[in-house]
Amino acid sequence: MSTENGRAPHETTRRDFMRFSSAALAAAALAGTAATKTAHAAAANDGKLRLGLIGCGGRGTGAMRNALMADSNTILFAMGDLFPDMIDESLAKLKKSEAADRVVVDDKRQFAGFDAYQKVIDCCDMVVLATTPAFRPLHLRAAVEAGKYIFCEKPVAVDGPGIRHVIESCALAKKKDLVLVSGLCYRYENKKRETIKRIQEGAVGDILTIETVYNTSGLWHKGRKDNWSEMEYQVRNWLYFDWLSGDHIVEQHIHSLDKMMWVMKDTPPLKATASGGRTVRTDAKYGNIFDHFNTVFEWENGVRGFSSCRQWENAVTAVYDNVYGTKGLAKVQTHEIAGRDGSNWKWESAEKDDMYQNELDALFSAVRKGEVINNGDYMVKSNLAAIMARMAAYSGQSVTWDQALNSELTYFPEKLEMGDVATRPVPVPGAAKYF
Ligand SMILES: NC(=O)c1ccc[n+]([C@@H]2O[C@H](COP(=O)([O-])OP(=O)(O)OC[C@H]3O[C@@H](n4cnc5c(N)ncnc54)[C@H](O)[C@@H]3O)[C@@H](O)[C@H]2O)c1
Repeated sequence: MSTENGRAPHETTRRDFMRFSSAALAAAALAGTAATKTAHAAAANDGKLRLGLIGCGGRGTGAMRNALMADSNTILFAMGDLFPDMIDESLAKLKKSEAADRVVVDDKRQFAGFDAYQKVIDCCDMVVLATTPAFRPLHLRAAVEAGKYIFCEKPVAVDGPGIRHVIESCALAKKKDLVLVSGLCYRYENKKRETIKRIQEGAVGDILTIETVYNTSGLWHKGRKDNWSEMEYQVRNWLYFDWLSGDHIVEQHIHSLDKMMWVMKDTPPLKATASGGRTVRTDAKYGNIFDHFNTVFEWENGVRGFSSCRQWENAVTAVYDNVYGTKGLAKVQTHEIAGRDGSNWKWESAEKDDMYQNELDALFSAVRKGEVINNGDYMVKSNLAAIMARMAAYSGQSVTWDQALNSELTYFPEKLEMGDVATRPVPVPGAAKYF
């Protein structure tokens, strides 16, 4: 296995991450034309696409399995992760999958360390980006610059600078006609597509309010090992650190906010006002994130979105999205619409509808037909809605869309290396701006 782990680590600096000047973009656009052709040429040669996995955790492994299942003329060719053990675990799972015979990742194409992503991108036609969210802007930019087919997990950024970086990458992908599929998976579930299409076509009349809830229990924690640096500890337990996950409103509740934004035809809300804090998950091992948020989003047309999310053990759990309109109520999560006139609709089809498979099926179908999918617009807007709400809760202020979009605040470390990394204290609303 080729690994930087345990050796002098390759350092990625903040400057590398933030390099998105117009000059760099223009150069990338020119260089990318050739790179795009390379990927298409691979498909044209023997049609066999070389797939690469960047971020070999639970979701990355699942998405790669879906990718292999989506197109039988593919091979899993390279894998990258910060940690070799995560590659080993993922590889073992994929070697037991239905596509085991197409898992051909030699030792020399297993890359570990902060620069693993680039090595995977360099030798593959299509990549799955599924690391911890904070790194997605950097990885997405590299994949777009290299002209690869991309499956990009959510969230795509955790702060304003990251979101702006991703917006530019999506624009560049569009310019280069790349296939860029987002991991906001509900958008690829046929049941949700039909339900939301009906809402958008007026099934509940004019929308008055949207209530979106993601109240779950606690999540995993991997503990701490004596030989781990603080950076390794934080990345292994990334959920609990704002600079890595964006907090759980960005990491998990983004799915709810994505449905809300979809219902609203991806129209940005004017502003968000929120409250939140940590009342259950107060131990230091839970880093610096909140354990609950409540947010009110306001749109120009008067619609209000009420959003609630929490991660509390031993408390009632619920995941649902209700859309209240002048003519009825739609329950998006259970695919039901009840009209005030007594009409009722419910999705009844027994057709197979695995959203995780559907999204990769769509990606390879587009690749094979020479079509373009670019989910960049909603991928960014739903993500920014979540960041905006977090900024409002942390600061105790109302935050506008533009304030969130233009925010310069970031907690991304100055230097990426397996050493020390600072942890900002848990935010106290009213005490600082946080946007
Ligand atoms: N769409 C969905 O329903 C869904 C479900 C689960 C997770 N996710 C998303 O998928 C992503 C991964 O989540 P997960 O549950 O697989 O987490 P995980 O911790 O199981 O996996 C993340 C992996 O990324 C690796 N990693 C972190 N930083 C890296 C870097 N800079 N370079 C290379 N590798 C790096 C980690 O070592 C780890 O192996 C997250 O963004 C998460 O929000 C999406």
